[in-house]
Amino acid sequence: MKKKNSFYITTAIDYPSGKPHIGHAYEKILADVIARWQRRKGKEVFFLTGTDEHGQKIEKYAKAQQKPPQEFVDAMSAQFIELCRSLNISNDDFIRTTQPRHVEVAERIFKRVLEKGDIYKGTYEGFYCVDCEAFFLEKDLRNGACPVHDKKVDWIKEDGYFFKMSAYQDAVLNYLNANENAIVPKTRRNEVINRIQEGVRDLNISRSNFTWGIPLPNDPGHVLFVWFDALVNYVSALGGPGGERFEEYWPADIHLIGKDILWFHAMVWPAILLAAGIELPRSVFVHGFINLDGEKISKSKGVTVDPMELIHKYGADSLRYFLLREVSFGEDGNFSEDALIRRINSDLANDLGNLVYRSLSMIEKYTQGRIPASRTGALPETLSASAAGLSAAVDKEMETYNFSQALARIWELINAANKFIENTKPWVLFKEKKENELNDFLFVLVQVITQVRDNLAPFMPETAAKIRQQVGTEMIRKDAPLFPRIEDAD
Ligand code: ME8
Ligand code: MG
Repeated sequence: MKKKNSFYITTAIDYPSGKPHIGHAYEKILADVIARWQRRKGKEVFFLTGTDEHGQKIEKYAKAQQKPPQEFVDAMSAQFIELCRSLNISNDDFIRTTQPRHVEVAERIFKRVLEKGDIYKGTYEGFYCVDCEAFFLEKDLRNGACPVHDKKVDWIKEDGYFFKMSAYQDAVLNYLNANENAIVPKTRRNEVINRIQEGVRDLNISRSNFTWGIPLPNDPGHVLFVWFDALVNYVSALGGPGGERFEEYWPADIHLIGKDILWFHAMVWPAILLAAGIELPRSVFVHGFINLDGEKISKSKGVTVDPMELIHKYGADSLRYFLLREVSFGEDGNFSEDALIRRINSDLANDLGNLVYRSLSMIEKYTQGRIPASRTGALPETLSASAAGLSAAVDKEMETYNFSQALARIWELINAANKFIENTKPWVLFKEKKENELNDFLFVLVQVITQVRDNLAPFMPETAAKIRQQVGTEMIRKDAPLFPRIEDAD
């Protein structure tokens, strides 16, 4: 049975058909903040991410580079792992669907569903978007093209194996109705409930017009539909039913995904799990899309930005901060380099960076680097009280996964501390030899910085570590400012 204190969070596994884009970075950052925050709350967290390496789409992109698919995904997947490292993502595992440990579990789950009698042979036809790896109804196309990728869809007609998904329509509906948090935000839950009520069709779960996939155990001339294959990653990474990790961590607490793949997670995945006799996940969290300068990301139209370049130029924490602060969870958001630079200069260099640098400079100057041990009560404790209450204020926002507002609470304290410095005029206290006041002043600043550091850690781990290095318990070790101002827009 799932350990009481365990917390299992997953991201979608990315198609390594091209380099990672900023949407991939965004999803990993969100999951990482939740994982780090839950660890801070004392949970035993298992945080999974990975790559989705089978299917027609991957086969197509590998062919375009004239590489065997395995060689292609080996090279591409390495870039997603590299992105995780560069962003300081604290994932505990990275699953690749071409790994034997995954293939074995995918076969096992397929066999369970087959034995249940929920798989039958039939013919399918419809409009297919290879980049989505999904069928579309004609009414859902936009000008005859895929509404997500704005690309031409193909008419496909083929014999294959079907999963009796329609048999689980009511069960999934009941589960969604009974669990308020089954899908977050609520609007997304309503969307799925409405769609299920319109009727659920059976799902074709095999393909035979290409070969890059897991051969069906009962008919190796067909490969397993890539979405069936991919969804199973959430349990294969735990060793599958019966696995040690599975027993500790399943069901997942959060499957974090983007809005375009909600149906697969809210209807298809629960149906597969029900058919396989596996408990359903607790929650699917749906984030919005990041656009670039107001336009949809599209490599073919040249609307794209490389997160690795941004990290090299501005640092991982700047990018993390920008996306978390600027975008409200669940909504679409916009990225532009100018807006990123503005946030770096105002919030990071001016507010946070200055607070730390000025405070440490004053401690260097007024007390030779020694941190006052306690307050004497010579100054009012208003700011001290706000500092002491920061964790509670941040937790309150994080309980509803309001990342942007959690950061806003931290910045309120930072700004209040900067005002405190201006109002207290420490240089006057120093000149007039008001030692108690000066000690209290420095003590409170260190208290604020410590609280900011600890609460900031899930959002900006590198910055929190830098502050930790500079602010010891007794002495400070001042270093360069945390965030140099960016002077030029390019
Ligand atoms: O869908 N902004 O992979 P993927 C924010 N392999 N998020 C975005 C985004 C954007 N502009 N574009 C994509 C797949 N995403 C499947 C998942 S899970 C069992 C299989 C999100 O590489 C997208 O919504 O196309 C998804 O959650 C993730 O990035 C991977 O997308
Ligand atoms: Mg996609």
